[in-house]
Amino acid sequence: MTTAATTYNDTAVRQFAVMTVVWGIVGMAVGVLIAAQLYWPALNFDLPWLSYGRLRPLHTNAVIFAFGGSGLMATSLYVVQRTCHVPLFAPKLAAFVFWGWTAVIVLAAITLPLGMTQGKEYAELEWPIDILITLVWVAYGVVFFGTIAKRRVRHIYVANWFYASFIIAVALLHIVNSIALPVALTKSYSIYTGAVDAMVQWWYGHNAVGFFLTAGFLGMMYYFVPKQAGRPVYSYRLSVIHFWALIAIYMWAGPHHLQYTALPDWAQSLGMVFSLILLAPSWGGAINGVMTLSGAWHKLRTDPILKFLIVALSFYMMSTFEGPMMSIKTVNSLSHYTDWTVGHVHAGALGWVAMITVGSLYALLPKLLGRDEMYSTRAIDVHFWMHTVGVVFYITAMWIAGVMQGLMWRATNADGTLTYSFVESLNATYPYYLGRLAGGVLCLAGMGLMAWNLIRTWRAGRAVDAPVLVPDLSNARA
Ligand code: HEM
Ligand code: HEM
Repeated sequence: MTTAATTYNDTAVRQFAVMTVVWGIVGMAVGVLIAAQLYWPALNFDLPWLSYGRLRPLHTNAVIFAFGGSGLMATSLYVVQRTCHVPLFAPKLAAFVFWGWTAVIVLAAITLPLGMTQGKEYAELEWPIDILITLVWVAYGVVFFGTIAKRRVRHIYVANWFYASFIIAVALLHIVNSIALPVALTKSYSIYTGAVDAMVQWWYGHNAVGFFLTAGFLGMMYYFVPKQAGRPVYSYRLSVIHFWALIAIYMWAGPHHLQYTALPDWAQSLGMVFSLILLAPSWGGAINGVMTLSGAWHKLRTDPILKFLIVALSFYMMSTFEGPMMSIKTVNSLSHYTDWTVGHVHAGALGWVAMITVGSLYALLPKLLGRDEMYSTRAIDVHFWMHTVGVVFYITAMWIAGVMQGLMWRATNADGTLTYSFVESLNATYPYYLGRLAGGVLCLAGMGLMAWNLIRTWRAGRAVDAPVLVPDLSNARA
């Protein structure tokens, strides 16, 4: 076995990692603002570009694509180099990916408050931005798969499988769902109509959850949990089963977003059945992550980064249990249109996605800045508790509000009239909106603490791509 000196190319990794923290703060700040608007509607100041309907998609785009997307790009480009033992393929293209993705985010932040939208949830951006996204995504794919192609390790580590499926699936989803007829630079119409449009949209929407908000973050889990725990993955065989089961099942579950609609009944039932089956691989994968701590449980007491990673997995298990339950038609008839859905979303998004990202970043950032660890471990611990308590506040407030709304809307008197008017259910919800706001403020403040810790770490260190010696394993068996 020969060894070779190599220097990993971490410029784009570092840029994306820092911007993940910045976009996390921006996205959550908009989340806090719209949460406050639901309690104090006057907070839109009668300005159209501060109205709830325009800021809500700004929030979802900022947290999913800017915060989540930058985190995924930072970690995938870091992990693929370390697990393939080679520097990035085409670093100039990686620079284009960073600046192109940042341009997409800035364009979104300008156009959405101006009211320019295709009106499709999570796919609001107008056609010129959609084309830019496609170009950036193809470049990202070339950099990632190019690095895999020139690897010095025969085996492709499982984290890369998850990242790869995320890159391929998101390209497919984005292109199919965004096909539209432009009528002006800032206006276009989807080529799909009626129930077909709804089905394509939720095939996209659900798989955006499956591949953007899940598969890529599982890639993070499979690299950073074993690294941080100092243990190998609990079962490598289970991780491979996890991968194939997840990607085979996710694609069919989309219709659970369209229960009791004009969609054919069989399609709704199909969505429900596949959602129930999805529980198994989701929990299998999460258990694989948690059990990686076998023999190292004591580290949870002292390492706040591990706490982030493992509690993220607990929220993942919680939301992937809740999701299949909500897809059962009779349960969905209660939960749909209520804040229960919003609670479920944030158990997944704020619990799972944000916590696994923040944990991975705390592990990654010092390495990119030539330091052994972050400036303050105590601050990481405080952040962990602020975020965890914040998420719990958020989701319990929404669960109670949601179930209450569902029950109030379906309550009838003996003569068949409705027991409650809609306004009465709204009034009953207000206290819970305040509870959610408190949780959101805690999470946002935690991100502020993270930014402070990052700045101090950067000041004490320096941006460095250190040379490393790597063994050539191109002919070694897995
Ligand atoms: C400080 C933290 C956050 C706060 C206060 C917050 C607040 C909100 C609010 C008020 C809504 C609108 C709910 C409604 O229309 O009834 C919302 C929607 C949403 N948020 Fe957040 N959010 C936060 C963090 C996040 C994060 C980190 C993510 C993703 C990674 C996320 C993803 C979403 C999504 C996908 C929706 C749409 C939900 C749906 O359509 O059912 N949020 N958020
Ligand atoms: C086994 C896994 C899961 C299943 C079967 C599932 C199922 C569901 C169901 C039934 C709904 C409600 C649809 C409705 O009534 O409108 C829903 C909504 C949603 N879920 Fe999940 N879920 C799962 C995991 C997750 C995870 C891990 C996340 C986030 C990381 C997530 C994010 C969302 C979002 C964003 C929505 C709201 C979509 C919208 O209406 O805008 N889900 N999910």
